[in-house]
Amino acid sequence: MVHQATTSAPVNIACIKYWGKRDTKLILPTNSSLSVTLDQDHLRSTTTSRADPEFTKDRLWLNGNEEEIKPGSRTHTCIAELKALRKTTVEDKNSSAPKLSTYHVHISSYNNFPTAAGLASSASGFAALVSSLAALYELPVSPKDLSIIARQGSGSACRSLFGGYVAWEEGSASDGSDSYAVQVATESHWPGIHALICVVNDAKKGTSSTSGMQRTVETSALLQHRIKEVVPKRMADISKAIQEKDFDTFARITMADSNQFHAVALDTTPPIFYMNDVSRGVIAVIEEYNRAAGKIKAAYTFDAGPNAVIYAPEENLKEIIQLIVKFFPQQAEFKDPFALFGGKLEGRV
Ligand code: PMV
Repeated sequence: MVHQATTSAPVNIACIKYWGKRDTKLILPTNSSLSVTLDQDHLRSTTTSRADPEFTKDRLWLNGNEEEIKPGSRTHTCIAELKALRKTTVEDKNSSAPKLSTYHVHISSYNNFPTAAGLASSASGFAALVSSLAALYELPVSPKDLSIIARQGSGSACRSLFGGYVAWEEGSASDGSDSYAVQVATESHWPGIHALICVVNDAKKGTSSTSGMQRTVETSALLQHRIKEVVPKRMADISKAIQEKDFDTFARITMADSNQFHAVALDTTPPIFYMNDVSRGVIAVIEEYNRAAGKIKAAYTFDAGPNAVIYAPEENLKEIIQLIVKFFPQQAEFKDPFALFGGKLEGRV
């Protein structure tokens, strides 16, 4: 009998950014965060896991290239946790269940978008890895439990286990048992909000989020202010804005938090620059677009890379695309300006 499962998981883009770990092994964050899980097909990881008594070791392929699973690595931790759950929740309870926890696994994962370019590939990647092993092992566990495991692969991955608007509660337990993702609102709660992804540069980023965060935690005074004074209120306010479908507040908080995240990166020693001149140009265009309209019609946000994500209600998308095309015509660095904006206007303009 073949023991194999394939699942896929989407990217999520944070409105309140996770940046900083209080425990680097368990991946416990220094602040809570909140994101939107993109529900289109364009930015997904698809992962197949197979267990076989003939396999001689656990192996992993990313986009067709084999990656070593080092002992103690995050991938190793996730696989070990899921094998242990298979044993305790399935095999120990049913003696006729195949002993998959004793077999080695082969895992193959594909991203349909650039890897490690600030497009949250680790989020969808680890979410897909964890959910494919959970499906293979037929684990009777909730998405919340899986989010605790995915978190140990890549922090932001815990949020990709849910659709819609998702918070990652930082928690306070030292074992990480209360640091997991919760759904704030389903994808259908607030239809018509779209994410326009402007791929400014799809090369691998210079400073990985892991080393960047560590440097920031060690050196930035601004991070301490952000953790204590800023994020708790923003988490409460943006959750309320989502519940009330208040785009103005949602957008203001999203832009302010992106800017503070990049300020914290700049406040790091040595400083980290994730945005480039094109990114800053996108900020200027969206700020001016909102100012001229006398209301907030779009919100930008940038992760650990130069690519822009613009959140906007559907009725504004056409205008926004026209603006981007006008101000960045033939922009050499805009390799694929409209890689995704969920919904009907899909495609290049
Ligand atoms: O989960 P990581 O280590 O890839 O970190 C993600 C950090 C940001 O994307 C910049 C912010 C976030 O909350 O997703």
